[in-house]
Amino acid sequence: MKNVLSGIQPTGDLHIGNYFGAVQNWVRLQSEYNCFFCVVDYHSMTMPYNPEKLRENTWNMVFWLTACGVNPEHLFVQSLVPEHAELAWVLNCMVPYGEVTRMTQFKDKTDQLHEKDKDAFVSLGLFTYPVLQAADILMYHAHYVPVGKDQEQHLELSRNIAQRFNSQFGKEYFQIPEPLFTDTPKILSPADPNRKMSKSLGEKHYINLFGEEDRVRKQIKSAVTDTGDTPAGEMSTGVANLFELLRACNSMELHDTLMDDYKAGTLKYSALKEAVADALVGLINPLRERLAELNADKRKVKAQIQESSAEIRKTAQQTLREVREIAGLLPLK
Ligand code: TRP
Repeated sequence: MKNVLSGIQPTGDLHIGNYFGAVQNWVRLQSEYNCFFCVVDYHSMTMPYNPEKLRENTWNMVFWLTACGVNPEHLFVQSLVPEHAELAWVLNCMVPYGEVTRMTQFKDKTDQLHEKDKDAFVSLGLFTYPVLQAADILMYHAHYVPVGKDQEQHLELSRNIAQRFNSQFGKEYFQIPEPLFTDTPKILSPADPNRKMSKSLGEKHYINLFGEEDRVRKQIKSAVTDTGDTPAGEMSTGVANLFELLRACNSMELHDTLMDDYKAGTLKYSALKEAVADALVGLINPLRERLAELNADKRKVKAQIQESSAEIRKTAQQTLREVREIAGLLPLK
C-alpha cells in the first residue's frame, strides 16, 4: 500500500465545505492507502493565536474528524510528534531563501493581517510554514498528498526540498510526493455565492458541519439565489451551488427531478431549498449523534489519540535517526 499524508489546521469550526472538499475524501482514502492524517497545531501558531483556544481547537478537531469516520489509528496531533519541528529545521537549511519568498499564501496571509492592522506582527514562523508542511509530508515518505488547488504551490516546494536533500547528500532518501487531486465538490458561501465557503468571511458564510438543524435550515432558506450579475439564460452561481449541495449529499434523484424543472422553467426556489436543507440535515444529524457519543467519553478519545500519536511517532523517530546520520548530526543516545 502506498502512503498518503494530509493535514488540517485546528480551526474553531468544521464546515460542510471542509467536509465535502477534504474530510469525506480522507475517509474514503483509508481503505486504499496507508494513511497519516495530522491535526497541524504547530502550523496554527504561525498566526496570532490564544494558547487556551489552540488547545481546545486541537481537541475539537480530533473529535470532529473521528465523528466523521477518520480512523483514530490514522489520526495524530502534529506537536505530539515533536520530530516534525526537528525535521523542519533540517529542511530549512536545505531550501533557498528566494524560493520561499515566492509562496503566495505567505503574501495573502500577510495582507490579511495588515488589512486589519497596518502594524500587525508577522512571524518568521508564517514565512517558514511551507517548510514545516514539507516536513509533515516527507517524514512518512508519503507517495500522495490529497490537496486542494490552494496548496499546490506548497506541495511543489515539498517536492523540490526532497529532491535537493537527495541530491545534496547523494542518496535517494526521501520519496518525492505527488499531489492527489480528487474531484471534490466545491461549495460556495450561501450568503455570497461568488466566494468559496470559508470561516474567515464570517458566520453567515459557512454552514457548520455539526450545526443545529434549525440554523442549517435557516441558512439554506436565506441562501442567495439571484446575484444580479448572471447573464440571461445561465444558471446563477447561487442556484448552481444549491444543486451542487444536493449532488454532494448524494441526493441524485431529487437533483435530477429539480434540474428538469429548472430546464422547463417551472422550478420553485423554495422547493430546491427545502430539498437541500433536508439533504444536509440528513447528513449532519448522524454526525451530531456520533459526536455526542464521543463526547460522552472524552477521556477515551483523548487517550486513543495520545496512543496513536505515540505509535506514529516511532516512524518519525526512525526517519530522524536516518536523517541525522545522512545530514552529519551525532546519533542520539
Ligand atoms: N497547509 C495546509 C492547509 O492549510 C495544512 C497542512 C499542513 C497540510 N501540513 C500538511 C496539508 C501536509 C497537506 C499535507 O490546508
